[in-house]
Amino acid sequence: MTESTDSAHRTPVVTRTAEELRALRPKLGRLALVPTMGALHAGHRSLIAAAREHADSVAVSIFVNPLQFGPNEDYDRYPRTFDADLLACSEEGVDVVFAPPVEVMYPDVDRSREDLGQIVTVDPGPMGRVLEGEFRPGFFRGVLTVVNKLFNLVRPDVAVFGQKDAQQLAVVRRMVRDLCLPVTVLAGPTVRDPDGLATSSRNVYLSDQERASALALSRALFAGADAAASGPAGVLAAARAVLGEAVHVTPPVSVDYLALVDPATFVEVDGDYRGEAVLAVAAWVGETRLIDNVPLTL
Ligand code: PAF
Repeated sequence: MTESTDSAHRTPVVTRTAEELRALRPKLGRLALVPTMGALHAGHRSLIAAAREHADSVAVSIFVNPLQFGPNEDYDRYPRTFDADLLACSEEGVDVVFAPPVEVMYPDVDRSREDLGQIVTVDPGPMGRVLEGEFRPGFFRGVLTVVNKLFNLVRPDVAVFGQKDAQQLAVVRRMVRDLCLPVTVLAGPTVRDPDGLATSSRNVYLSDQERASALALSRALFAGADAAASGPAGVLAAARAVLGEAVHVTPPVSVDYLALVDPATFVEVDGDYRGEAVLAVAAWVGETRLIDNVPLTL
């Protein structure tokens, strides 16, 4: 479904409310949703392209979700680039952009008290308390709650999430399974810049020097993946060796965690594990926290 075309680009319909979406939904056929917080980059574009292959219409949601940010995190400074996002969506042939105000997603918000008024939330369970969940308490509760709302509002048949946020992907998959949500979750591979840095909306925070330091994350993951034949201990040792050196560069890389986990449960694998795994890392470079991962087979 496409409203209009101007030269090569389609113009997405921009919706902001549940009512607008409800009116549009019957015209969209099989619908794929790419949930985003905007600041769209090549990684999002590849998710949109993947979505197109699985549906008649593609919707992109753009909503910086306050519920998933901790009190000292970057909610206020998170990049908001709506015009550029809309252009990217046009170029990618997106049919519908859903860009709700906070009041639509959190009807009981009280801005004067900075209270979202959200009483019922989705508990991510144990998978939501390790790794990202340990360092960002409440993050996955916020993600699952808003993803659930987005599914209920947009009513997609398919939703596409990036492998870049591997734990988020696993937690969303588990929610869909445990709550019997009628949505098929698909994953799109991580897109990297030519130097290896995984594309992320937060990369705009990095200075040139910080970006050079940040390359240690992908280098560590690739070193780990190259050592897959030597088993879990070898993978972790290879990755740790790279991160160990990165502590001494300027600015230094400060690691929150490096972990080799089962991709479905995010439980760390033991020494004789064989099969699919994810090597995941989170680290600070200056004021910017970055995450990255590689899937590998042990
Ligand atoms: O990955 C993101 O951009 C966000 O966590 C998501 C899935 C859009 C929920 O706010």
